[in-house]
Amino acid sequence: MSLPIRPAVQASPDYPFSAITAPVKLDQNESFADFPDELKAIALQRLHTLPWHRYTDLHAEALCDAVARHEDWASSGTVVTTGSNVLISLLVQLAGMGARVLTVKPNFALYGLDAQLLGASLTEVPLRPDFSTDVDALIAALGEAPGRGVVFVPRPHAPTGSLCELDELERLAQACRDGWLLVIDEAYHHFTEHDARALARRHPHVVLLRTFSKAWGLAGLRLGYALAGDDVARQLRKLVPPFGVSVLQTVCALVALENPGYLRQRIALTLSERARVFEALRSHPQWEVIPSQANFLLVRTPDAEQAHAALLAQGVLVRRQDRLHGLEGCLRVTVGTVAENDAFLRAAGLSP
Ligand SMILES: Cc1ncc(COP(=O)(O)O)c(C=O)c1O
Repeated sequence: MSLPIRPAVQASPDYPFSAITAPVKLDQNESFADFPDELKAIALQRLHTLPWHRYTDLHAEALCDAVARHEDWASSGTVVTTGSNVLISLLVQLAGMGARVLTVKPNFALYGLDAQLLGASLTEVPLRPDFSTDVDALIAALGEAPGRGVVFVPRPHAPTGSLCELDELERLAQACRDGWLLVIDEAYHHFTEHDARALARRHPHVVLLRTFSKAWGLAGLRLGYALAGDDVARQLRKLVPPFGVSVLQTVCALVALENPGYLRQRIALTLSERARVFEALRSHPQWEVIPSQANFLLVRTPDAEQAHAALLAQGVLVRRQDRLHGLEGCLRVTVGTVAENDAFLRAAGLSP
């Protein structure tokens, strides 16, 4: 007997992740610090007073309002879901099914996986050798048939940390005008200077993706959101499961948005630690470190398997990226606390 599973799903690989535990965990680009204790206490207290037997808002309207205020965006154009990874799938459903998904490579695995699972035709345009986004090649690829679908550009790029210039993205947005949704994945935007909101305001077919999983220190909460034009947001909401954001998620995110002060200090520490680890890695006799605008650094080693194992043997977990296009020998290390970064540098044979 064969199971009634679509061939595209059967042919799709599992999400490329295996859980490993280690004392120093620098493999998932999480925040180096937990959600502040005092904010956890406020959230728990508020949760206690709320009814749990009632459904939450249909589309997390109260949370959308708070996110929109924080982002200086229209609430009508804000769509909150349980993680921005959900939105990647929904955006492929919205504009890519029966059409195309266009992105760069190497890339965040979900763009390609969702394209495959949902039966969209996938085109991946290689980054240039310096890891910059080749916007001319992306624009050229838009012309292939069928000339419609969704384009994903992570900014900063994951997993290299490079940054596509905003005027380059403007060119891409203009080229996407007929038939393409341009999604700029800003999961790591807190760690760079300029974001793409002004660009998205100018173009109703441009969508920004953001998450509570990185700078906010709430990866375990599972919340992300799209900032879009009203028309795209209205259509996207039809695909979002009703009542999907729980009372726990809503309350914790509202408390975070009411108290965003803790972000500034954490982002500043991430940036200064990123610079310190980068400088230290530059003196490594065999490794090459790539400049990054995110909360991680990509490092090219002569042998990723060996380097990964050697770090892990000393209690430091980083992520192998060497199976991705153009990233032979590469490892990705999250910027952690000062002590974690010191442990990483020591394990790499460097003095912190
Ligand atoms: C580029 C990029 N986009 C999206 C996500 C997914 O974030 P979320 O935790 O909101 O699903 C990640 C997570 O690592 C990411 O690296």
